[in-house]
Amino acid sequence: MSKISLDEFLSMRISQRCQYFSENNRLLALVYAQQFDRPLLSNLFSLADAIRRLSDSRDGRLFLRALLADRRAMLYFTQPSTRTFLSFAAACHILGMNSSNVRDSTTSSEIKGESREDSLRIFSLYHDLIIMRQPEGGFCEQIAFQMLSWPGRKPIINAGAGMDQHPTQALLDLYTLQRCFADSGGLDHKRIMLVGDLKRGRTARSLAYLLTNYSGVELILAAPENLAMGEDIKEHLRENSTPFIETDNMQPYLSKVDAIYLTRIQDEWDQGAKTSMDYSRFGLRAEHLKSLKADCFILHPLPRRQEIETSIDADRRAVYFDQAQNGMWVRAALIAHMFAVDEKIISHR
Ligand code: NCD
Repeated sequence: MSKISLDEFLSMRISQRCQYFSENNRLLALVYAQQFDRPLLSNLFSLADAIRRLSDSRDGRLFLRALLADRRAMLYFTQPSTRTFLSFAAACHILGMNSSNVRDSTTSSEIKGESREDSLRIFSLYHDLIIMRQPEGGFCEQIAFQMLSWPGRKPIINAGAGMDQHPTQALLDLYTLQRCFADSGGLDHKRIMLVGDLKRGRTARSLAYLLTNYSGVELILAAPENLAMGEDIKEHLRENSTPFIETDNMQPYLSKVDAIYLTRIQDEWDQGAKTSMDYSRFGLRAEHLKSLKADCFILHPLPRRQEIETSIDADRRAVYFDQAQNGMWVRAALIAHMFAVDEKIISHR
C-alpha cells in the first residue's frame, strides 16, 4: 500500500477511500456504508445465516467458538449504547474472541490529557480488532486510516460515528428486510419509507446508502422539514438512480409501502434548550395498522420513544426485536469475514 498523508487520503473521492480500506475483496476496516456492494452483502448474509444455524446446536457453538479463540477485540464506546455494544460483545464471544472495553473516556488516560489517537494506538497494541463508537463524525475514518500505518495494521469497525454513519446497523437493517422479503422476491422493487430525524439519524443515512445496491427500490423520506435527509445522501440516491420522495406527512404513504423504518428524534444534538416541537406525526399508532399492507414490515433501530406504540409489538409485522437480535448474527458474520474464517463457516457440515 502506498504511503499517503491523512490530508491526501481525506481529499480522495469516497470510492477511492473505500478501496483503501479493503484488500483482495476483504475489508481491512469498515468505516462507510458505501463499502458494501451487493456481492459482499449477499456473502455476509449467507454467513450470518450459517452462524445462526450453527448456533442452534452445542457442537455448532463449540465449532464457532474455536474459530477466533486466539484473538482479542477492544470495544471503545464513548457514546451511550445498549444493542450495538452488547451485540458486538456477543458476536465476539460467538466466535471465541475475548473482548475488553472502554465506555467512558473519563476512566482512561484521556482525562490526563492523552490524545485519542495515542489511546487508540495503545488499544491496537493489546488487541486484534478495534470496534469504535464516538460522537465525532470524521474520527473513525481518520483512525482507520492511521491504523493501517501503525504496526500490526489492526482492523477497525465503525459502530456509530456522530451524526454521520452507522454502517453495521444498516447491515442488520438490510439483513432483516431481506429475511422479511424472502418469500416475496427479495428487496428489489420494494418501496420503503424512512421516518423521523433523517438529518441527524446516522442509521437512516447509512441504510439509504445500502438500499441503492438493490434495483427498483423506491424511498419515501418522511421527516420534519427541519430534519430532512441531507443533501449528500440525496445526491448519492440520484447518482445511483434510486428514486425518492420527500414529505413531512407519512400518512398518505402508509398503505403504499412494503416496509416502514421509524427512527427517534436525535435531540441530544439540539443546541441549548431541547426543542418543544411536537413530533407525534412521525410515530406509528395502533390505529394506523389497518392502513398498512398485510405484509408491510415495521422496523426501528431502537431505542424507541413515542415512535411506535407498544401495543404494536404484538403485530406480526413488527420486526424490531428480531432486527435487534439480527445485529448479533451480522456482526459475527462481519468479524468472521474480516478475519478470513468465513470459508470455514460456510463449508462446515
Ligand atoms: C441508534 C444509534 O445509536 O444511532 N441506535 C442503535 O445503534 N441501535 C439509533 C438511535 O440512537 O436513535
